[in-house]
Amino acid sequence: MAGSKEQFGSRFAAIAALAGSAIGLGNIWRFPYMVGENGGAAFILIYIASSLFLSVPVFFAEFIIGRHSGANCFGAMKRLAPGTRWNLLGILCILTPTLILSYYAVVGGWSISYLFKSFTLAFPSFGSFSSSGWALAAFVIYLALSCLIVAGGVKNGIEAFSKVSIPLLFFLIIGLAIYSVTLEGGSSGIDYILKPDWSKVGVRTFVNAIGQSFYSISLGMGIIITYASYISKKESIVFSGVGTAGFDLFFALLAGFVIMPAVFAAGIEPGSGPGLIFDTLPYIFVSMNEASPVLATVVAVAFFLTVSIAALTSSVSLVEVPVAWLIEEKQMKRSSATLLVFAVTGIIGALCAINLGIFDWLDKVCCNILLPIGGILCVIFVGWIMKKGDVRDEFNSKLFPFAYFLIKYLAPVAVAVIFLSNFL
Ligand code: PHE
Repeated sequence: MAGSKEQFGSRFAAIAALAGSAIGLGNIWRFPYMVGENGGAAFILIYIASSLFLSVPVFFAEFIIGRHSGANCFGAMKRLAPGTRWNLLGILCILTPTLILSYYAVVGGWSISYLFKSFTLAFPSFGSFSSSGWALAAFVIYLALSCLIVAGGVKNGIEAFSKVSIPLLFFLIIGLAIYSVTLEGGSSGIDYILKPDWSKVGVRTFVNAIGQSFYSISLGMGIIITYASYISKKESIVFSGVGTAGFDLFFALLAGFVIMPAVFAAGIEPGSGPGLIFDTLPYIFVSMNEASPVLATVVAVAFFLTVSIAALTSSVSLVEVPVAWLIEEKQMKRSSATLLVFAVTGIIGALCAINLGIFDWLDKVCCNILLPIGGILCVIFVGWIMKKGDVRDEFNSKLFPFAYFLIKYLAPVAVAVIFLSNFL
């Protein structure tokens, strides 16, 4: 099976798919605000350290499971720990992305709707829009689009899409950042992100940094396991992990340079989450419209195109996890597997689109409970259950002793602490 499986065609393809999964709404609507609220450059340094020492090791563990087994999450556990309860980890890693996809696609739907609205700068109030039938229809279209890409296959679907999207995303976000930092009054937005303020640093800062980097590089939900099963044995794990985290952080910082200068130039309080993207920024685009309608339209379209594509590359990775399981374990054809995932997530997601209370609840359960549990179990599995020799062969780098220490001791403890801190 492992040999006959489709694979990513090149190193660039693999890193584009991994970075595509990582770069998403978390980078745009959460990271910039989190940096500003947690001490600017001080937070960025802490974020880099916690990514390198805690999140990237979890990435390594998932990568090792996926590439060593050459299988989907459930199949990986079946091969590496046959006849044990570890199959529950496999099930968890299929359940979590299916649930996340359901509500992530609701936001994806909002993004593509706002993309269309930005051509005329006729933005509705977000409150009334998000509860309208249009939001529901946009959700279905967005989900169908994500599934169509996955139905195209690993190479002709996911890889082809990621190879175009990732360069396009960086092109767009760099262009927008250049525009935004040159706005009059925008420099206080740059200060907000970059000025180090160590007085804001406390225990909570570390918890926030780890939680954010964990979500942002798509850990704890089987995505890295699944994608790694399509990556050639020749590729370096260290490069994949550090590269993914690096691109992800670079994009998040650029998103900060787009959003915060614009928000400060308009004299608005920065915030995070849906309100920032779907209320505050549209307001800014509309006010720009008075001075220069063409520029305002171009900027708004570029911005919502960035949000839509960033979300799409992430949801594609979410779709692929259950699809890979259905193909490899249930012998389904890729097209039928994708259709089934579309139907199931369509129903759960429609509930989230109609009732934002369900949306919030599902988001909390997934991010605060299921994700950390998945992450901890993966590092425990690689550090304590798998044979050290197998892990060493798969890791195949001089950095192995250090990485193994992080996987075996530091990462499980740190992730457990974050997990428990959610209940305090
Ligand atoms: N990493 C994505 C982001 O930053 C979020 C994501 C979550 C992607 C779950 C895939 C799966 O937005």
